[in-house]
Amino acid sequence: MNKQFFLFGVLSLIMFVFPVFPGCAQSPDAEIDRRVQEFLNSPGRGYANVPTSDGKLLHEIILKNNYKSALEIGTSTGVSGIWIALALSKTGGKLITIDIDETRHKQALENFERAGLSDYIDARLADAHELVPALEGPFDFIFSDADKYWYQNYFEAVDPKLVVKGCYTTHNVSDQGGGQNSGYLNFLKQLPNYETTVNNNGSGMAISYKKSEK
Ligand SMILES: C[S@@+](CC[C@H](N)C(=O)[O-])C[C@H]1O[C@@H](n2cnc3c(N)ncnc32)[C@H](O)[C@@H]1O
Repeated sequence: MNKQFFLFGVLSLIMFVFPVFPGCAQSPDAEIDRRVQEFLNSPGRGYANVPTSDGKLLHEIILKNNYKSALEIGTSTGVSGIWIALALSKTGGKLITIDIDETRHKQALENFERAGLSDYIDARLADAHELVPALEGPFDFIFSDADKYWYQNYFEAVDPKLVVKGCYTTHNVSDQGGGQNSGYLNFLKQLPNYETTVNNNGSGMAISYKKSEK
């Protein structure tokens, strides 16, 4: 057989056969999806992680709006960070996430690696009270999930760095059954340049879209 024909035949066979085997010719997206699913299905969670429905909600908001520059306050062991970074891996964005607790921060780094998302995450070990006001921005997506009594201070520090049409999400806020963090929710709702709704499906999420600068 002619050598060129032989090589052409072998190459065609490789291109035809490899997509059949998972892991051989998967797109980077499919490989990350697979590793994230594997991580989320594995037993054992860290400290106060978001439930799956809230993780999916964060993921959906980022994809729907094609956000690319995200900030998370309160990493814990990285479950919400993984949902956020999974979406950012599809929009081509990046997440800065902050936690003050060294053990959780280290566990989060391991989890990000395991999920194949480290390239999309800049995880900082710091006191968010100090780091958040010092961050430059701009951001188009924020997830606030650290110390609740500081929620309004975080919001006020980040607001000037959040772009118009950006979204500020806050965890553990609800307007049902007594209303978690209701004082903070009232603060969000009276802001003239934000449209705030509440999703009560998981642990409660305030979703605040910035309509204009002032
Ligand atoms: C509810 S957990 C975050 C859960 C995480 N978002 C998840 O779903 O996987 C809150 C985290 O905020 C962190 N935290 C509390 N106060 C903080 C501060 N001043 N600066 C940075 N992190 C803080 C805690 O260490 C804790 O890990």
